[in-house]
Amino acid sequence: MKLPPLSETSPKQLKGFERATILTSKSSSQKTTYSYYHSFGVTEHYVLFLEQPLLVNTVKMAASGIKGYCVRDCLEWNPAMKTKFHLINRSTGQEIKTKFQSDAFFCFHHINTYEEEGQVVADIMAYPNSEVMDKFFLKEVRAGRLNDSCKAIFTRFVLPLKTEGRIGENLVTLKETQATAIKEETGIIFLIPETKGRAGYEMPTINYSMFNTRKYRYMYGCGSFDTGEFAHSLIKLDNVTGEMTAWKETDTMYPSELVYVPRPGSSEEDDGILLSVVLDVADNSQDFLMVMDAKNFKELARVFVPRSVKLPPSVHGRFRMD
Ligand SMILES: [Fe+2]
Repeated sequence: MKLPPLSETSPKQLKGFERATILTSKSSSQKTTYSYYHSFGVTEHYVLFLEQPLLVNTVKMAASGIKGYCVRDCLEWNPAMKTKFHLINRSTGQEIKTKFQSDAFFCFHHINTYEEEGQVVADIMAYPNSEVMDKFFLKEVRAGRLNDSCKAIFTRFVLPLKTEGRIGENLVTLKETQATAIKEETGIIFLIPETKGRAGYEMPTINYSMFNTRKYRYMYGCGSFDTGEFAHSLIKLDNVTGEMTAWKETDTMYPSELVYVPRPGSSEEDDGILLSVVLDVADNSQDFLMVMDAKNFKELARVFVPRSVKLPPSVHGRFRMD
């Protein structure tokens, strides 16, 4: 859907989705299932939609009322289907004809997507499979069985827009990436990604207002819902060097997704602050909003709420200047 921003000329009586128009629609490549998705990528000219092999079984979904299935019961992991990448022109709604595919992986969040030298760079927090969907069932949490095996990692795919070339040839020409795109006999372009940093965190955020759809360097993440190296931590990742910086105070603190706020008038990518709501489950503790310097990833200040108020760690957040 296309949802234009409110402007002086927008009819005032139209609210929310009343202003939306359909840009395009896409049928599932499967017969009775369609791909689960949580987010998509956007570049200057394209929308990137992943058809990933975690499939919603529509027959089970229809029967869920009678059979008592929950949504998870209706999802099926089918890695043989691989992951399909669809690029759709933002102006015309037309999908480009090239078929892009990679080995199966699962994701919730696209980090950023941009065009560079005739290629689309797609950065995604990718899991090896969809086991993460089962990790937070209450029976697992209560039994202390948080599964640490299925972790997300910064994963970069590069999709060439020009696909003339020989079979078996790598069509990626960007110098600083290890990601490849190999033309197969079937005409499919098979994508092999590269990863940056180490796995085990989620909730990627960037300097969105200045670098969304543009080449960028820094990503911020949160390991609150993980159990490994980055549990209770916040992360800054330099996607050029792969260097990671972590913030962690105690095992009782659960920081939320970071929200980036640029310094007014700034031009540098990390010249700004980061905000995170932190829940502290220690006895007699006070929860707080933490303000960090995005450049050195150190705390600048914390704003406490009264002890009687607990702030559950939020999944997604937003900053609004009033
Ligand atoms: Fe999300």
